[in-house]
Amino acid sequence: MTTLPRVTKTTKYESLISPVRDRNNPIYNWHAFKHSYSKELVERLVKKFNLGEDSWVLDPFSGGGTTLLACKELGINSKGIDILPFSVFLSNVKTRNYNPDKLREQLKKFSGNFESAPTKNSLPDIGIMNKAFSSSVKNELLDLKFKINQIKVIEIRDFYMLGLLGILESVSNTQKAGGFLRVVEKNVSAKEVAPRFLSKIETMINDVVKFNGGLKFNKVKVDAQLSDSRKFSARKKFDAIITSPPYPNRHDYTRIYGLEMIFDFVKNNKELKQVRYDTLRSHVEAKKRFKADGYKKPEIINKLVTKIKKAGLNNSKVPEMIDGYFEDMYLSLCQMQKHLKVGGKIALVVSNVRFGGVSIPVDQILARIGEQAGLSTEAVLTARYRGNSAQQMGKFKRKPSRESIIIWEKT
Ligand SMILES: C[S@@+](CC[C@H](N)C(=O)[O-])C[C@H]1O[C@@H](n2cnc3c(N)ncnc32)[C@H](O)[C@@H]1O
Repeated sequence: MTTLPRVTKTTKYESLISPVRDRNNPIYNWHAFKHSYSKELVERLVKKFNLGEDSWVLDPFSGGGTTLLACKELGINSKGIDILPFSVFLSNVKTRNYNPDKLREQLKKFSGNFESAPTKNSLPDIGIMNKAFSSSVKNELLDLKFKINQIKVIEIRDFYMLGLLGILESVSNTQKAGGFLRVVEKNVSAKEVAPRFLSKIETMINDVVKFNGGLKFNKVKVDAQLSDSRKFSARKKFDAIITSPPYPNRHDYTRIYGLEMIFDFVKNNKELKQVRYDTLRSHVEAKKRFKADGYKKPEIINKLVTKIKKAGLNNSKVPEMIDGYFEDMYLSLCQMQKHLKVGGKIALVVSNVRFGGVSIPVDQILARIGEQAGLSTEAVLTARYRGNSAQQMGKFKRKPSRESIIIWEKT
């Protein structure tokens, strides 16, 4: 029988497991990445792990780049891995060093009259784009994209492109809602697009100035790379890993960040779907990519899956997803173990989930799977409790799920 590790209750991290605290923090707030934690959580963990200026931190699910940016501010080198091209782009643009004067020079060129692109470039023909934008808004966006693509210096071009990606949701008929992109009528006028973009860029440049002022460490090394947490290579070993993988809650990042992905990172629906299939099996459309040699499925998973099946589900693929999730996390934890120095620590933020009223203690199961990967569990710390989905709430009443930080050491 699988015995699960003890969970330590603490309120120390309660308010830190959310990006809300960084709403007004320059650069952290350049693009709403809803699935991130706060800069302060990274700061606390860096302190807890006694990391210093020569240390190297890895985030194999870098998302909005919070770990990388917070480490940069602390003078710590870092590397990020993510499978979503938009996440890699976001992490890199947020962590680069910029000369604000050069960014401003470019802004002057944009502030004049907006000329249309000589030949209309188009967006991939994917259903959501037609629902998301009126044709006049789409044309404005494409004109701006055309102009941005003329910028020769890659860093400046990327900075402006992130500014444009940053206004997409606000000028669209969509809204990021938990695990998906909801279509909502907003009726934005095409005239609003360019001013919103210019104002976004203005704010971003001011942020660079504020951030540079407080930044002592422009020589810090930081880089995000497009790769898979289950199979990546890195030349060095890391002192610590601070990360948060997708939770097995069916959220699909290729849909949540669908507008951004379609606007600049994929050529067609086939490419978008391929990224969707390749992501960690935390949602039902992801497919098995790698064999998990050496993995012994903890018995508790079968018991829980049987209960869930009995409870009846509105998606028959959930049990397979749960199995696949833990297999994929085993592979990711093996990679983390391999790239960690002896004595190095991992902090991994994860949430428990509930299907058919059955709660899955993802944190405790993962702690044991980490041990299979060669790590020693130091603690499973309760961070906070989150509400269940509206669907589950209606049927099974309010039963919040635990969100935890698992701490391992490579001994
Ligand atoms: C919870 S988010 C990470 C949030 C991040 N810690 C932050 O603060 O912004 C999970 C990330 O895992 C990425 N992901 C999903 N499958 C992956 C895989 N196989 N390898 C690497 N990254 C993956 C998603 O694209 C997403 O960006």
